[in-house]
Amino acid sequence: MRTQVAIVGAGPAGLMLGHLLHLRGIDSVILENRGRDYVIERVRAGVLEQGTVDLMTGTGVGERLRREGMRHDGIHIAFNGRRHHVDMAALTGGRAITIYGQNEVVKDLLDARAGTSRPLLFDVDHVVPSGLTDGRPRVSFQKDGDHCELACDFIAGCDGSHGSCRTVIPPSQLQVYQRDYPFGWLGILAHATPSSDQLVYSYHPRGFALFSMRSAEVTRLYLQCGPDEDANGWSDDRIWAELQTRLHTDDGWRPNEGAVLQKSVTGMRRLVVEPMRYGRLFLAGDAAHIVPPTGAKGLNLAMADVRRLADALAAFYSDGSEHQLDAYSDRGLRRTWRAQRFSWWMTTMLHRAPDGTAFDHKRQIAELEYLVSSRAAMTSLAENYAGLPFED
Ligand code: FAD
Ligand code: PHB
Repeated sequence: MRTQVAIVGAGPAGLMLGHLLHLRGIDSVILENRGRDYVIERVRAGVLEQGTVDLMTGTGVGERLRREGMRHDGIHIAFNGRRHHVDMAALTGGRAITIYGQNEVVKDLLDARAGTSRPLLFDVDHVVPSGLTDGRPRVSFQKDGDHCELACDFIAGCDGSHGSCRTVIPPSQLQVYQRDYPFGWLGILAHATPSSDQLVYSYHPRGFALFSMRSAEVTRLYLQCGPDEDANGWSDDRIWAELQTRLHTDDGWRPNEGAVLQKSVTGMRRLVVEPMRYGRLFLAGDAAHIVPPTGAKGLNLAMADVRRLADALAAFYSDGSEHQLDAYSDRGLRRTWRAQRFSWWMTTMLHRAPDGTAFDHKRQIAELEYLVSSRAAMTSLAENYAGLPFED
């Protein structure tokens, strides 16, 4: 087999890259090690920045997003029993976020791929890129027990945080910045009408909680928990009791309860690898960087990466120029570090560290009080949360 760009991973990054390349007439093969249903059903992100929404609508995959996405002009920050509104649109000259599940993004991109004749192979095993610096890039893999080899010009490592692409880069060529946080999030989807029309991020002495949603009938909620906790150790009653304790505010606001449709625990991590390129291999999305989800940046960073990568590859195929390919990593890392800073700040402000002291608690309350009383501080939150321009 031969193609121009071999894309490893059919998450949002790999699928969007395949889509952008297709629109420019560039061929790709997408290799995914899980099954189609698993890829569609994985419940993760929900917050799309304006730039991500624009990318989807501007490239013809935003039809359902336009109909079903929920535009939010602000968020609430809650602590000490009170909710404070951050009017993002007013603070940023009209920028907003859109709530639309990552699995819906994936479905739309899979549909777009299916409308092309370009291959997407599910359930492939032992994906190994090679020839990254010898002028013969290729990816070997197994499909239905057969050994296959895909020759290509470039390899896009869009295989997420546990993928194989990053591991083929010699350690001496890679700087890794990594930390596991000593906590995780228990996330649930509940069949319950959202009781607020905007998200509520809550700091509570018992830990962080987040109120979000997916539709007029489905609420999405998160609770800070231990990093390795078994979600099955949390009964529905216990989850609701903890959510009500951490989220309810003195004005009587609380989340509506309903049947728990899905629950899972995610450990929180942060990771940056530098550079995002090794020879003919380009890393994009979670394969290159992971941010704790408190800032809602991971999927949006992935989209910014593949947009840049698609532009760079298009420039290469149109006139042989490697200038944008050479700039891909530095430009991506600048955006990544800004997102890391913001996500770190949101995370440390809103979570209780297991070894946190009384001093830390007082400092966090002071930080939150300052945030909600200062237009300058709220503007800083708003412009980062709504998303920095893609061009940055
Ligand atoms: P992935 O989605 O991980 O996709 C990688 C794909 O590669 C997968 O399909 C995987 O099966 C496949 N793969 C892995 N290894 C191999 C291999 N060896 N061979 C072939 N295929 C392979 N981000 C936001 O922007 N906003 C949010 O609101 C938000 N909320 C989140 C909430 C939670 C609870 C979590 C966990 C994350 C959240 N994120 C959010 C982050 C977001 O989900 C990720 O950043 C996003 O999934 C990254 O997309 P990706 O395509 O880079 O990686
Ligand atoms: C979500 O709706 O899943 C969501 C919202 C905000 C976050 C993370 C996840 O910060």
